[in-house]
Amino acid sequence: MWNIILFATITIVNGYLSFKEDPYDYTNVFPSIGELPNGTKCTKVDAQKLNPLFDQNQIIFSGYLSVIENSKSCLGFIFYGSEKATQVEDLSKYPTLIWLNGGPGSSSQLGNFMELGPLIMQENGTFRKNIYAWNKEYNVIFVDQPIGAGLAYPEKQSDVPTNQKQIGQQFLFALQQFLQSPEGCVKKNAIPGLQKSTWFIFGESYAGKYVPTIAKAILDYNMNAVDQIPLKGIGIGDPFTDPYSVIAEYASYSFNLGLIDVQERAQIDSILVYGLNELNKGNSLNARAAFDKSLDLIGQYDGGMNVYNVLQYGSYNNAKINIQNYLREPLILNQLGLSADWVYKISNGADGPVQKALSYDFMLRDVVQTVEEILPKIPMFVFSGQNDLICSTPGTLRWLYNLKYSKIDEYKKKDFEIVKLLDTEKIVGYYKQAGNLELQLVNNAGHMIPTDQPQAALEMIMTFVNKHKN
Ligand SMILES: *[C@@H]1O[C@H](CO)[C@@H](O)[C@H](O)[C@H]1NC(C)=O
Ligand SMILES: *[C@@H]1O[C@H](CO)[C@@H](O)[C@H](O)[C@H]1NC(C)=O
Repeated sequence: MWNIILFATITIVNGYLSFKEDPYDYTNVFPSIGELPNGTKCTKVDAQKLNPLFDQNQIIFSGYLSVIENSKSCLGFIFYGSEKATQVEDLSKYPTLIWLNGGPGSSSQLGNFMELGPLIMQENGTFRKNIYAWNKEYNVIFVDQPIGAGLAYPEKQSDVPTNQKQIGQQFLFALQQFLQSPEGCVKKNAIPGLQKSTWFIFGESYAGKYVPTIAKAILDYNMNAVDQIPLKGIGIGDPFTDPYSVIAEYASYSFNLGLIDVQERAQIDSILVYGLNELNKGNSLNARAAFDKSLDLIGQYDGGMNVYNVLQYGSYNNAKINIQNYLREPLILNQLGLSADWVYKISNGADGPVQKALSYDFMLRDVVQTVEEILPKIPMFVFSGQNDLICSTPGTLRWLYNLKYSKIDEYKKKDFEIVKLLDTEKIVGYYKQAGNLELQLVNNAGHMIPTDQPQAALEMIMTFVNKHKN
């Protein structure tokens, strides 16, 4: 019965809704800070001094990227050259991948030090080398955004974006700083080829909204620009692109995994139906509350299985705090050329400045429309860890199935191909493609696929990037 109710509600929904943004009170949201950098900045880092685990020739840049003309507000980044590049001139031979984490308000250095970067932080506070780092092949740049998240600092609170459009504009501005500003890495290190080499953007979770938004900003810019940005493809992992589809599957996903009972499912579904109806009425905040409540209940009934990987109890990675401590160490910040006056946070919670600023954006579905706009123009890779509850595979399959795209019928008719590891031929997932839409499910992985299945993740990304890089 509950199932019928839920599906009935979902089928009523057609089209997109607009929401009114309330003015957001930023008073005292940010901690008081000392003297911030003056805008775009690029430091060439001594890799071995930073950490002896790095190869002698490892190229690392770090710094800041302005987001708005005449404001000091900046995104922060750490860039690793491909391990195959031994000098800066070589960087242009390899595609550059931008990586974004979500939140909203999470630092992309989570991806760097916990998922796919060259050094992985361990629970005892030491690093280990990642043999499946994505910069084995490509240049990878971990960008903290929007301002207020991670290394990205605001000069004034009103610079923090409150919607996707601003996020796209600010990121585009920042990327141009990297490529074209006299203070940006490309000009400072005299590597003009990097502007012409190929670029990709990947992201996870809430970045399932950021990545299509930013891709649209770049593609729009490219239409009239002389110095186009050669974006060749985008990828979103366990994405929160369509909150509606994602939350609609919470109870059924948990039920079918044997985590909750029939009456528990019915109770959670009724909360979700309420939330989805609120969302339809434009009450984004009530929808968010229902979303939170349903996750709380699932956690209560299943004894606290991890929402990012339902096969794990409680917190299954305790290295986060170590990353935060690391990026607060004055010696490390000094080597990275980063400011100690802005207090780095690995993530901002629901009451953090970024989530507050994006509270109306949080549940909106407008990014699905953005995906529909850009999909005819650029390859989009969607990947999904099967053990992720918070942005589950069924939720992702649901919104993909309903996309308005010329190749969607072909997509619907296609069966999965089986994906195997290159060396052992172990089955690691399922893949299909129709036109620019590519999908891969990853076995035995949660929300953070590169953490849980590092080899499968690297091979998956290489297949996609190598197919589209030329
Ligand atoms: C910013 O620029 C001003 C004026 O040029 C300079 O005095 C100040 O030291 C700079 N601050 C930083 C952090 O570089
Ligand atoms: C930290 O943990 C790793 C992995 O368990 C171990 O190999 C390493 O020896 C530990 N280092 C220290 C200093 O405890």
